[in-house]
Amino acid sequence: MAIIKFPKEMRWGAATAAYQIEGAAKEDGRGLSIWDTFSHTPGKVLNGDNGDVACDSYHRYHEDIQLMKELGIDIYRFSISWPRVFPAGTGEVNEKGLQYYHDFVDALIENGIEPMCTLYHWDLPQALQDTGGWANRETIEAFAEYAEFMFQQFNGKIKKWITLNEPWCVSFLSNYIGAHAPGNKDLQLALTISHHLLLAHGKAVARFRKLDVEGEIGYAPNMEWYEPFSSKQEDIDACNRALAYFIEWFMDPVFKGSYPEFMVDWFKKKGAVLTIEDGDMETIHQPIDFLGINFYTGFVGRYKEGEDLFDLERIDIGFEKTDFNWNIYPEGFYKALTKVKDQYGAIPIYITENGACYNDGVENGRVKDTKRIDYLKQHLTSLKRSIDAGVNVKGYLTWSLMDNFEWAEGYDKRFGIIHVDFNTLERTKKDSYYWYKHMISNGWFDM
Ligand code: NOJ
Repeated sequence: MAIIKFPKEMRWGAATAAYQIEGAAKEDGRGLSIWDTFSHTPGKVLNGDNGDVACDSYHRYHEDIQLMKELGIDIYRFSISWPRVFPAGTGEVNEKGLQYYHDFVDALIENGIEPMCTLYHWDLPQALQDTGGWANRETIEAFAEYAEFMFQQFNGKIKKWITLNEPWCVSFLSNYIGAHAPGNKDLQLALTISHHLLLAHGKAVARFRKLDVEGEIGYAPNMEWYEPFSSKQEDIDACNRALAYFIEWFMDPVFKGSYPEFMVDWFKKKGAVLTIEDGDMETIHQPIDFLGINFYTGFVGRYKEGEDLFDLERIDIGFEKTDFNWNIYPEGFYKALTKVKDQYGAIPIYITENGACYNDGVENGRVKDTKRIDYLKQHLTSLKRSIDAGVNVKGYLTWSLMDNFEWAEGYDKRFGIIHVDFNTLERTKKDSYYWYKHMISNGWFDM
């Protein structure tokens, strides 16, 4: 048995996102987002599920905040639904939608929980998609305007801002692989969008600085780890391409002001050309205050010509898996964190998401999600090792506070430490909730 103890200053939290929990999709003047369109298109989401009601947090947030308070978290990451505030993406403000966020943020603060706000967690206003979405440079400007408006509204209340959640998912997963809204399958489009997203991030950061907003701003890329199957150079190179797809592609421009050349060349080989306009890299390359990292899984990769986008074959070496069939690879968490430190320095880091899908149900009022507790223990152990190795970790937020709408998987995949019955909307604390509560109050756990 070993004691895993965290620094006293470590912040503990939980995370969610608007479309996944709010519901109230047609209430109080909310506009449509691309996820409303996508989820209502037959065949796009498992079982035809959608976020119309979700966890109904729009109406039940007081109850949810009490659950957070009892849990003992002091930071809560949520996202703002852009079309709830600007139903058409730009122009007229929906006062009722805006008021909802004021009331919600006030209630968090009154309960001693610091809000961490994500501006873009995937629910692009449909009106902007209709004019080209993220492929249109006007959307970048629309995002900057929306961000500026929110900074002004919440200056002094929200002190931690995240521009974008998982830009890899917004670009490649949604526009090349096509699994998420808007569901395109076009590498060129995805590549262009990846650049536009980084520009949107940079423009929002510039507005934040110009307004001299109180607090800190960052963004939250997702990282998957790729471990080479052998020490053969071709396996190492293939894994480096896959890693760069998540890490360097979305971080070099922000931290170094350039894209990794070998990836630019690789995409070109695959027929997709990166176009950079004058001034773009300066806009993207701006100091940020912290980096958010979302981490869930890792793979073993081997070179195989023609396989996937990167001539890489994923090998199943018998990892344990979650109920999403995702490999459990906590060593990858340590490696991703130390790689970030080695390449970009000891920037302050918040783990903005980490958690596991297990679908355990309620039995006699209890949810025995032992495997989720094991997953959290293993990943927190890696996190502690990374802190000991000099990674500047400020906080950890688990995904998710509660079961919710898991995008293309609908309600079929549960990530919460609180169980939600999607018929009655009743919340039940899982064993992992009690475990996390105990860990937070101690600042340590035993392995
Ligand atoms: C990443 C996303 O940010 C979040 O919305 C999603 O539910 C989790 N990962 C789990 O897949």
